[in-house]
Amino acid sequence: MCGITGYIGYRDAYPIIMNGLKRLEYRGYDSSGVMLFDGKNINLSKTKGKVSSLEEKVSQEISTEGSIGVGHTRWATHGIPNDVNSHPHMSQSGNLVIVHNGIIENYEALKQELVSRGYVFHSDTDTEVLINLIEEIKTQEGVKLGQAVQIALNQVIGAYAIAVFDRAKPDEMVVAKLGSPIAIGVGDNFEEFFVASDASPFIEYTKNAIYLEDEELAIIKKGRKVRVRKIKDDSAIDANIQELQMNLEQIEKGGYEHFMLKEIHEQPRAIIDTLRGRLLVNEGIIKLSGLENNMKRFLNAERIIIIACGTSWHAGLVAEYIFEEFVRIPVEVEYASEFRYRNPVITEKDVVIAISQSGETADTLAAIKLARSKGAFVFGLCNVVGSSIARENDSGAYTHAGPEIGVASTKAFTTQITVLLLMALRLARAKGTMSSADYRMHLQELELIPQKVEELLKIDDHIKEIAKEYLLSTNFLYLGRGYNFPVALEGALKLKEISYIHAEGYPAAEMKHGPIALIDDRMPVVVIATSKGHYEKVVSNIQEIKSRKAKIIAVVTKGDTSVRAIADHIIEIPEVEEAFSPLLTTIPLQLLSYHIAVMRNCNVDQPRNLAKSVTVE
Ligand code: G6P
Repeated sequence: MCGITGYIGYRDAYPIIMNGLKRLEYRGYDSSGVMLFDGKNINLSKTKGKVSSLEEKVSQEISTEGSIGVGHTRWATHGIPNDVNSHPHMSQSGNLVIVHNGIIENYEALKQELVSRGYVFHSDTDTEVLINLIEEIKTQEGVKLGQAVQIALNQVIGAYAIAVFDRAKPDEMVVAKLGSPIAIGVGDNFEEFFVASDASPFIEYTKNAIYLEDEELAIIKKGRKVRVRKIKDDSAIDANIQELQMNLEQIEKGGYEHFMLKEIHEQPRAIIDTLRGRLLVNEGIIKLSGLENNMKRFLNAERIIIIACGTSWHAGLVAEYIFEEFVRIPVEVEYASEFRYRNPVITEKDVVIAISQSGETADTLAAIKLARSKGAFVFGLCNVVGSSIARENDSGAYTHAGPEIGVASTKAFTTQITVLLLMALRLARAKGTMSSADYRMHLQELELIPQKVEELLKIDDHIKEIAKEYLLSTNFLYLGRGYNFPVALEGALKLKEISYIHAEGYPAAEMKHGPIALIDDRMPVVVIATSKGHYEKVVSNIQEIKSRKAKIIAVVTKGDTSVRAIADHIIEIPEVEEAFSPLLTTIPLQLLSYHIAVMRNCNVDQPRNLAKSVTVE
């Protein structure tokens, strides 16, 4: 994980780097650092803690002059988060500086070799090993920085996105990538360059960006075109400059106290954007080119395997119910991390759907590679345009949620379900597993979802009131059935992630097989009891919990009376087809977690130990 920024040009590098680091804190925030070159000296400052702590330290410690520099915000892998392990790292001579995102797996062996040659290490990191390896190679006669980096990377096993600076070449920077993302922002006439883990740090300066592919190395030099080479064989590559679609407004808070709250409230818009041009209700058409162009593969599939992690995995579970119901095809949903290491049976008749907001999750990426190597057809569902997973598949579709910055995923989840619904409906039509009347009805219903979400968001104050009563709870249980079982899991995950309250999600009927033992008068239980989802059964489950004195927070369909009579709190959602209900029932659960976390003074957008994009396995 970790976030990298860098700048070479004619402006002050410091504010660009620091602002960029703040935008990249979603990638990790346990320590951070910056290096600036003022034309004479390398000024480096780093510290445990967030970028705001770094700013304080820098103001007491170093000069912020210079038009070239790099910055880093870390999510620790090798070595605990402390000042010494923070990046940037310097080589032994003090001439080379590196920032790194990823893991060098064979760093121990490389370190021993370097120690035997007299190198002394100050940190526990794999990164310090890499920069000294580059230095060692560079000591050989005639080896330039770019070559030294290339030779070193050919000795390395692992993943990296790096930016390397050399005091001897102060208008140049070498960047390289394998497994972790890196983008180069290109200024007018090549007079300035920006380096970053994603384009957000430089969006206000340039819309032109080069996304390096795996095993590519780029040499950036002021006033010159970017030179890109393959790390393995040194062959030259044409640098493909893309125009960015993102704008600044999308990555700012827009008046909300937190990104998470902004993103919760953006859901109606995000779903509309995801449906735009794809759901054509009047014509009775669903258009998803990634699906349409590969219809045969989908129709001939003997099963669908969904792979994902975290919240995206929960969207996959919802999809299992949807696909099996609508398309009558067997679906398996797997944690990518388990799938890739358990020697799964995969055949050419399988269609794999990989779901990932960031498109960078290491386990999901590796699972895709495995599935493709066995001949399965892989369809990627990502939010981040141009991300690794978006490129590493046979076909795919984007959710158009816009940048999601809050670490706890919200709008990505609902837009993932939206695309999965579109896919299932389109396939159901093609396969004939849904009548045309039902199909049309579902299309009309789907179009109404954004306005139902909008209506639902008005209950924010009501949820806040409920949150007040439970902010000191230490445990929560979330129950749901059918389509809303994954929503219960997701509700529990949201609470855990941002409020640090222990929470478990369970299928409502499974409660009897264990969790019921936990219930007493202090245990809040969130139950989803929509009118069309095995309603009577869930009502019985609620009775069972109530008779054990739990506090019941029930999510029900508008007009419900039975649950109202038993529950301590009622949250109403607009009436909706059951298959679409996760798009609504999940909203109050997001808000509940959000308000509880805020009231507990937790850092909602950057919860402890987590990161938005998990690029390590
Ligand atoms: C991390 C994030 C989660 C996310 C998961 C999968 O754990 O904190 O919010 O659901 O990764 O990420 P992806 O980008 O693949 O959806």
